[in-house]
Amino acid sequence: MTDIALIVIGYLAGSLSTGVLVARLLGMPDPRHDGSGNPGATNVLRLGGRGAGAATLAGDALKGVVPVLAGHALGLSATTIAAIGGAAFLGHLFPVFFAFRGGKGIATGLGIFLAWSWLPGAAVVLTWLVVAALTRLSSLAALVSFALAPAWFLLIDQSPALAGVAVGMALLTGWRHRGNIRRIAGGTEPRIGRR
Ligand code: G3P
Repeated sequence: MTDIALIVIGYLAGSLSTGVLVARLLGMPDPRHDGSGNPGATNVLRLGGRGAGAATLAGDALKGVVPVLAGHALGLSATTIAAIGGAAFLGHLFPVFFAFRGGKGIATGLGIFLAWSWLPGAAVVLTWLVVAALTRLSSLAALVSFALAPAWFLLIDQSPALAGVAVGMALLTGWRHRGNIRRIAGGTEPRIGRR
């Protein structure tokens, strides 16, 4: 019962679209209708500056972190912990509070990975940082770091449950970034720090 309740809470927490809420609070353009059209930290940074972007990053990450840490605190199984993270991720992509039109899941996914297990999670975050620093392409950093995430959870934690859900998250992320992938291939993807 606790397991199912926390999976549902994870989905509901993930459904809180921080980028849209931050934009409303600051009187900014709705990130779903401006810039890249994605209600994520990268687009909010683009539209509203560093403070708004940082608030979105923190809020989106926390909504993945909190339900997973609650699962750990209650001593739930690895399979349930994996499912709670997967549910929070699905909430971000398909939010019940925002007509199921959500984001690409990167900040939320990074929060989930860190809360699942800090060492493989840190490896994913480090991969994101290295690719972003080298290319200034947030989307490419997301694609590479999420594609490698299942391997980190298998190699470091030997956890098929976490690695399995991470595979699903990587596939959904790839699908959500299909426009970015086309722009990267065409050389037109905006780089961090430029509009
Ligand atoms: O976090 C999402 C990022 O990978 C891409 O965002 O706005 O450039 O499509 P955006």
